[in-house]
Amino acid sequence: MSGPKLPHDSSDLPQDSGVAQTAENKLGKGTTGITRRGFLKGAGVTAAGTALLEGARAFGREAAATRGEHPEGVREFGPGPVAVTLQVNGKERVIHIEPRTTLADALRLEMAMTGTKVVCDRGACSACTLLMDDIPINSCMTLAIDAVGHQVTTIEGLTESSEGHSMQAAFLKHDAMQCGFCTPGMVMTCSALLKKNPKPTEDDVRLATAGNLCRCGTYPRIFAATLEAAGVSDSESTHNA
Ligand code: FES
Ligand code: FES
Repeated sequence: MSGPKLPHDSSDLPQDSGVAQTAENKLGKGTTGITRRGFLKGAGVTAAGTALLEGARAFGREAAATRGEHPEGVREFGPGPVAVTLQVNGKERVIHIEPRTTLADALRLEMAMTGTKVVCDRGACSACTLLMDDIPINSCMTLAIDAVGHQVTTIEGLTESSEGHSMQAAFLKHDAMQCGFCTPGMVMTCSALLKKNPKPTEDDVRLATAGNLCRCGTYPRIFAATLEAAGVSDSESTHNA
């Protein structure tokens, strides 16, 4: 079934569309110069025209996809389950998931790795933090298929490493948790900080955990635990507040 023809560039637009032609006129074609007023008015019209054209192109791409046509090099997945291979904690895992599945759900529901917590499920609390290529990310906001080809480290994998183990031991020693829902995400964020900055100040820890919400208010204990895991003494940890 063929769909409606959509404009792909300004030449496809009707002569009276008022977009490209108007912009050209507004820029003063046929005059001897461009005035400041004319330039600003023209720039506004050009920006509006560009936005309109981009919208038309996006609509055109969507209509083509509906007809089963894809530009060269573009592959379509789903909507049903597809086989996806992920590298999780150094091991290859093959799962069958719908392309819309988040990394957090893939771990928790498909691999039974429930150490990663989902609290807000909308990128607001960072409870679901894990590492992708050693960078902390919110796994509730990342599609599992976008993790293909990257090294994913979860709280379960961190436990097996010496630095992860010492961070967790420090959290236990400082009793840096109450309900524990934020704790795996906090541990992942703080571990990522120490990889980047092995001797942080308290200010560094505060900054690194700024996106991690702890509704129980255990922040001072989390800061103390992280500094202890880093082997930073009280005097070294003084922040500049
Ligand atoms: S659960 Fe992912 S950011 Fe809150
Ligand atoms: S320990 Fe309860 S949210 Fe942090």
